[in-house]
Amino acid sequence: MRASRAVSIPRVASADPCIIVILGASGDLTHRKLIPALYEMSRRGAIDARTQVLGVSRRAKSDEQFREELAVDARKALGAEFKDDAWKPLADRIHYVAGDAATADAWPAITQAIHALDAKAGTCGNVLFYLSVAPELYEPIITQIDAADLVTEGKRWCSVDPAKRSWQRIVVEKPFGHDLDSAKSLNRALGRVFEEDAVYRIDHYLGKEVVQNLLAFRFANSIFEPVWNANYVDHVQITAAETLGVGTRTAFYDQTGAIRDMIQSHLLQIMAFVAMDPPSSWSPAMINAEKRKIVESIQVPSAAEAAKCVALGQYGAGKIGAVEEPAYHQLPGMAAGTGTETFAALRFTFDNWRWGGTPFYVRTGKRMAAKRTEVVIQFKEPPANLFRSLTKEPVQVDRMIIQIAPGESFSLRFNSKVPGAGFSLRPVEMVMDYRQQFGNDSVEAYGPLLVDCMRGDQTLYKTREETEDAWRAVMPFLGVASAPMRAGINANYEPGSWGPKSADELLARDGRAWHNG
Ligand code: BG6
Repeated sequence: MRASRAVSIPRVASADPCIIVILGASGDLTHRKLIPALYEMSRRGAIDARTQVLGVSRRAKSDEQFREELAVDARKALGAEFKDDAWKPLADRIHYVAGDAATADAWPAITQAIHALDAKAGTCGNVLFYLSVAPELYEPIITQIDAADLVTEGKRWCSVDPAKRSWQRIVVEKPFGHDLDSAKSLNRALGRVFEEDAVYRIDHYLGKEVVQNLLAFRFANSIFEPVWNANYVDHVQITAAETLGVGTRTAFYDQTGAIRDMIQSHLLQIMAFVAMDPPSSWSPAMINAEKRKIVESIQVPSAAEAAKCVALGQYGAGKIGAVEEPAYHQLPGMAAGTGTETFAALRFTFDNWRWGGTPFYVRTGKRMAAKRTEVVIQFKEPPANLFRSLTKEPVQVDRMIIQIAPGESFSLRFNSKVPGAGFSLRPVEMVMDYRQQFGNDSVEAYGPLLVDCMRGDQTLYKTREETEDAWRAVMPFLGVASAPMRAGINANYEPGSWGPKSADELLARDGRAWHNG
């Protein structure tokens, strides 16, 4: 059955014209994600035709060179979706200024370029700053934006549309700080220059269709919510497994590790959407209030308790396809005894009425057996087994799998009678597959989020409090608790596997096992 009718929930106004200033324009994120996402949005008419992109990074290059480099990577990222005729109108609006945005020297040229583009294109003085640089540069750059007097929000009227005031917003990439203290410091630095409604803390997982659909699935239907709690759910698993290694990001990754890179941000966001209570209305304030409540209710364990709820790993050397790849600790520039985790599995519990007693197991890793991002809701056994006399096999428990990547689907496993004489049971599956229902039209997650920012919609962005609460929840797993484990994690799992043995033991201790497909 295909989806019959689209129900659209209106967001706020359409995307305003603006200048998107990408700080860190030569980086991987800009080339592989941001520009392809802007291309997809521009091709779908979601971006105002006056909007300009201004790339800033240290290397000197012309606009033309910058556009050509971006086209090569956009073509790689988008494959057949990349069309020269659709690229041209966007490329013509991409510009470049060379400079080190963390120092004052760069800003006269950046400021001049912003003003010139604004005057020429009529972007109403609206500027969207995108911090796509190394995290240690966030605060120096925010200081420079302020010093260049570029934040005039609310004080200037739009020269093109006199009914509107101009805005300046800032999108801040993850990792949002390195720990709770640095996250607080970054929040303070942002607060000194920007109003909270101009700060967009991005997590691209919130731009993923299935993650957003968790809200529709749970709150636009009445049949799931009654069983979505500790009375019916035995436990929840959230997995983000990747086959890729760390690649060229060694310096960044070795200071970050899997807990900071994936769990503190992406996986806690998914967990919040799975676990939160229904918001009282579709508004950023109400949705974020519920997310905040659920993240706040994560039980923060003591160091001793935390050590029992964590398994860490680091991939060893091995063959990926036909190619022999080095172990993580053998990558160029890496300290031989590095204790940074490329795999982490954590057990979270909530101190609230809905989830008391139902653990959420969260795991992520590089160089694992498959690229798979999914949520598994494992339901409890029926209170009595009516079929005990008919079969020796235990009845399989019901299970819902929400697949985020690759492929997007919701599937429910439940037991059925096998047709024919006699009475035997077999688990069957009911699947809602996005491609079948809606056609194959999924876009890069960054695109819709960027458009939301241009519309002034913070629904799918993180609040100041939420970023700090998320750090509070993972801090015990980063410190003392994991220290003894870090000493022994070098090459403790094979590439192409499902992680170290300790991750299986984490669940086995509770009488459970990971869903590895
Ligand atoms: C990024 C992490 O935020 O997310 C990367 O820094 C990771 O390490 C990536 O590979 C995964 O994103 P996705 O959308 O491919 O699941």
